[in-house]
Amino acid sequence: MKKRISVFASGSGSNAEKFFEHFKDHPSIEIVSVFTNNKSAGVIARADRFSIPHHVFDRSYWATGQKIIALLDEERVDFVVLAGFMLLIPEALVTHYPNKIFNIHPALLPKYGGQGMYGMNVHKAVKAAGEMESGITIHFVNEAYDKGEILYQESVSLSPSDSAEDIAKKILAVEHKKYPKVVEREVLKSI
Ligand code: GRF
Repeated sequence: MKKRISVFASGSGSNAEKFFEHFKDHPSIEIVSVFTNNKSAGVIARADRFSIPHHVFDRSYWATGQKIIALLDEERVDFVVLAGFMLLIPEALVTHYPNKIFNIHPALLPKYGGQGMYGMNVHKAVKAAGEMESGITIHFVNEAYDKGEILYQESVSLSPSDSAEDIAKKILAVEHKKYPKVVEREVLKSI
Protein backbone atom coordinates (compact mmCIF):
# COMPACT_ATOMS: atom_id res chain seq x y z
CA MET A 1 0.00 0.00 0.00
CA LYS A 2 1.43 3.36 -1.00
CA LYS A 3 1.59 6.20 1.50
CA ARG A 4 -1.15 8.70 0.61
CA ILE A 5 -0.64 12.47 0.64
CA SER A 6 -3.18 15.27 0.31
CA VAL A 7 -1.99 18.76 -0.71
CA PHE A 8 -3.64 21.91 0.68
CA ALA A 9 -3.16 25.11 -1.37
CA SER A 10 -4.90 28.47 -1.59
CA GLY A 11 -3.12 30.04 -4.55
CA SER A 12 -1.34 29.38 -7.82
CA GLY A 13 -0.08 25.97 -6.69
CA SER A 14 3.38 25.99 -8.27
CA ASN A 15 4.70 24.13 -5.22
CA ALA A 16 1.79 21.70 -5.40
CA GLU A 17 2.60 20.98 -9.04
CA LYS A 18 6.17 20.07 -8.10
CA PHE A 19 4.65 17.43 -5.78
CA PHE A 20 2.42 16.12 -8.57
CA GLU A 21 5.49 15.79 -10.82
CA HIS A 22 7.80 14.37 -8.16
CA PHE A 23 5.41 11.66 -7.00
CA LYS A 24 3.99 10.73 -10.40
CA ASP A 25 4.55 6.92 -10.75
CA HIS A 26 6.43 6.90 -7.39
CA PRO A 27 6.77 3.29 -6.12
CA SER A 28 5.57 3.94 -2.55
CA ILE A 29 4.03 7.40 -2.26
CA GLU A 30 1.12 9.05 -4.10
CA ILE A 31 -0.72 12.38 -4.11
CA VAL A 32 -4.39 11.43 -3.76
CA SER A 33 -6.17 14.81 -3.51
CA VAL A 34 -6.00 18.57 -3.33
CA PHE A 35 -7.91 20.69 -0.83
CA THR A 36 -8.38 24.41 -1.42
CA ASN A 37 -10.42 27.17 0.18
CA ASN A 38 -10.35 29.21 -3.04
CA LYS A 39 -12.55 28.12 -5.95
CA SER A 40 -10.45 30.14 -8.40
CA ALA A 41 -7.09 28.90 -7.13
CA GLY A 42 -4.60 28.04 -9.90
CA VAL A 43 -3.88 24.78 -8.10
CA ILE A 44 -7.21 23.35 -9.36
CA ALA A 45 -6.21 23.51 -13.04
CA ARG A 46 -2.81 22.06 -12.17
CA ALA A 47 -4.43 19.15 -10.27
CA ASP A 48 -6.82 18.53 -13.17
CA ARG A 49 -3.84 18.19 -15.53
CA PHE A 50 -2.55 15.38 -13.31
CA SER A 51 -6.07 13.89 -12.88
CA ILE A 52 -5.85 14.50 -9.14
CA PRO A 53 -9.28 15.12 -7.53
CA HIS A 54 -9.80 18.35 -5.59
CA HIS A 55 -12.17 19.63 -2.91
CA VAL A 56 -13.13 23.29 -2.58
CA PHE A 57 -14.38 24.17 0.87
CA ASP A 58 -15.33 27.54 2.37
CA ARG A 59 -14.52 28.85 5.81
CA SER A 60 -17.61 27.29 7.44
CA TYR A 61 -16.34 23.85 6.40
CA TRP A 62 -13.08 24.78 8.02
CA ALA A 63 -14.38 26.04 11.37
CA THR A 64 -13.69 22.97 13.49
CA GLY A 65 -11.97 20.82 10.91
CA GLN A 66 -14.21 17.83 11.67
CA LYS A 67 -15.60 17.71 8.10
CA ILE A 68 -12.10 17.97 6.65
CA ILE A 69 -10.90 15.17 8.92
CA ALA A 70 -13.85 13.00 7.82
CA LEU A 71 -12.93 13.56 4.16
CA LEU A 72 -9.25 12.85 4.76
CA ASP A 73 -10.11 9.64 6.64
CA GLU A 74 -12.43 8.60 3.83
CA GLU A 75 -9.52 9.06 1.40
CA ARG A 76 -7.21 7.20 3.82
CA VAL A 77 -4.77 10.13 3.76
CA ASP A 78 -1.57 9.50 5.73
CA PHE A 79 0.11 12.90 5.40
CA VAL A 80 -0.94 16.47 4.58
CA VAL A 81 1.29 18.94 2.72
CA LEU A 82 0.51 22.65 3.01
CA ALA A 83 1.73 24.44 -0.12
CA GLY A 84 0.78 28.09 0.11
CA PHE A 85 -2.25 27.42 2.27
CA MET A 86 -3.63 30.57 3.89
CA LEU A 87 -5.98 29.30 6.61
CA LEU A 88 -4.87 28.35 10.09
CA ILE A 89 -4.95 24.61 10.73
CA PRO A 90 -7.54 23.82 13.42
CA GLU A 91 -6.21 22.05 16.48
CA ALA A 92 -8.39 18.98 15.81
CA LEU A 93 -6.59 18.44 12.50
CA VAL A 94 -3.16 18.91 14.05
CA THR A 95 -3.92 16.34 16.76
CA HIS A 96 -5.38 13.98 14.16
CA TYR A 97 -2.13 14.18 12.19
CA PRO A 98 0.68 14.52 14.77
CA ASN A 99 3.96 15.25 12.94
CA LYS A 100 2.21 14.41 9.69
CA ILE A 101 1.36 17.88 8.41
CA PHE A 102 4.17 19.62 6.51
CA ASN A 103 4.48 23.32 5.75
CA ILE A 104 6.98 25.48 3.94
CA HIS A 105 7.74 29.02 5.01
CA PRO A 106 9.61 31.35 2.60
CA ALA A 107 12.10 32.60 5.22
CA LEU A 108 14.57 31.32 7.84
CA LEU A 109 12.25 30.79 10.84
CA PRO A 110 11.96 31.94 13.55
CA LYS A 111 12.87 35.17 11.72
CA TYR A 112 10.06 36.64 9.61
CA GLY A 113 7.46 34.21 10.90
CA GLY A 114 4.19 34.49 12.78
CA GLN A 115 1.10 36.63 12.37
CA GLY A 116 0.76 38.23 8.91
CA MET A 117 4.09 36.88 7.68
CA TYR A 118 3.14 35.11 4.46
CA GLY A 119 3.80 35.51 0.73
CA MET A 120 5.14 38.91 -0.35
CA ASN A 121 4.83 40.33 3.19
CA VAL A 122 7.78 38.15 4.14
CA HIS A 123 10.00 39.25 1.25
CA LYS A 124 9.09 42.93 1.72
CA ALA A 125 10.08 42.71 5.39
CA VAL A 126 13.36 40.96 4.50
CA LYS A 127 14.08 43.64 1.89
CA ALA A 128 13.19 46.47 4.28
CA ALA A 129 15.55 45.02 6.89
CA GLY A 130 18.38 44.98 4.34
CA GLU A 131 19.04 41.30 4.94
CA MET A 132 21.90 39.81 2.91
CA GLU A 133 20.33 36.36 3.10
CA SER A 134 16.93 34.75 3.37
CA GLY A 135 15.85 31.19 2.75
CA ILE A 136 13.26 28.45 3.22
CA THR A 137 12.04 26.53 6.25
CA ILE A 138 10.21 23.22 6.00
CA HIS A 139 8.56 22.22 9.25
CA PHE A 140 5.87 20.10 10.86
CA VAL A 141 2.72 22.02 11.74
CA ASN A 142 1.72 22.02 15.39
CA GLU A 143 -0.86 24.06 17.30
CA ALA A 144 1.41 27.08 17.16
CA TYR A 145 1.67 26.78 13.38
CA ASP A 146 5.11 28.16 12.37
CA LYS A 147 6.60 26.72 15.57
CA GLY A 148 6.47 23.03 14.65
CA GLU A 149 9.70 20.97 14.50
CA ILE A 150 11.97 22.30 11.74
CA LEU A 151 12.87 19.55 9.25
CA TYR A 152 15.01 21.50 6.78
CA GLN A 153 16.35 25.00 6.22
CA GLU A 154 18.39 26.37 3.33
CA SER A 155 19.65 29.94 3.01
CA VAL A 156 19.65 31.99 -0.18
CA SER A 157 22.09 34.87 -0.60
CA LEU A 158 20.64 38.24 -1.57
CA SER A 159 22.14 41.31 -3.16
CA PRO A 160 21.22 44.93 -2.29
CA SER A 161 19.82 45.37 -5.79
CA ASP A 162 17.29 42.54 -5.27
CA SER A 163 13.71 43.79 -5.10
CA ALA A 164 11.17 41.97 -2.92
CA GLU A 165 9.97 40.32 -6.14
CA ASP A 166 13.51 39.19 -6.98
CA ILE A 167 13.78 37.69 -3.49
CA ALA A 168 10.45 35.90 -3.94
CA LYS A 169 11.67 34.39 -7.22
CA LYS A 170 14.96 33.19 -5.69
CA ILE A 171 13.13 31.62 -2.73
CA LEU A 172 10.43 29.97 -4.85
CA ALA A 173 13.08 28.28 -7.00
CA VAL A 174 14.61 26.66 -3.90
CA GLU A 175 11.17 25.69 -2.58
CA HIS A 176 10.39 23.91 -5.82
CA LYS A 177 13.67 22.03 -5.72
CA LYS A 178 13.66 20.96 -2.09
CA TYR A 179 10.11 20.70 -0.66
CA PRO A 180 9.07 17.44 -2.44
CA LYS A 181 12.43 15.82 -1.63
CA VAL A 182 12.30 16.70 2.08
CA VAL A 183 8.72 15.40 2.36
CA GLU A 184 9.67 12.21 0.49
CA ARG A 185 12.58 11.62 2.89
CA GLU A 186 10.29 12.02 5.92
CA VAL A 187 7.43 9.90 4.53
CA LEU A 188 9.82 7.07 3.56
CA LYS A 189 10.92 6.92 7.23
CA SER A 190 7.37 5.83 8.11
CA ILE A 191 7.48 2.84 5.76
C1 GRF B 1 5.24 30.02 -1.60
O1 GRF B 1 5.95 31.22 -1.69
C2 GRF B 1 5.41 29.44 -0.23
O2 GRF B 1 6.58 29.86 0.40
C3 GRF B 1 4.27 29.97 0.54
O3 GRF B 1 3.20 30.15 -0.37
C4 GRF B 1 3.75 30.26 -1.67
C5 GRF B 1 3.08 29.21 -2.51
O4 GRF B 1 3.23 29.52 -3.82
N1 GRF B 1 3.91 29.05 1.59
P1 GRF B 1 2.50 28.53 -4.88
O5 GRF B 1 1.02 28.70 -4.70
O6 GRF B 1 2.96 27.14 -4.54
O7 GRF B 1 2.99 28.99 -6.22
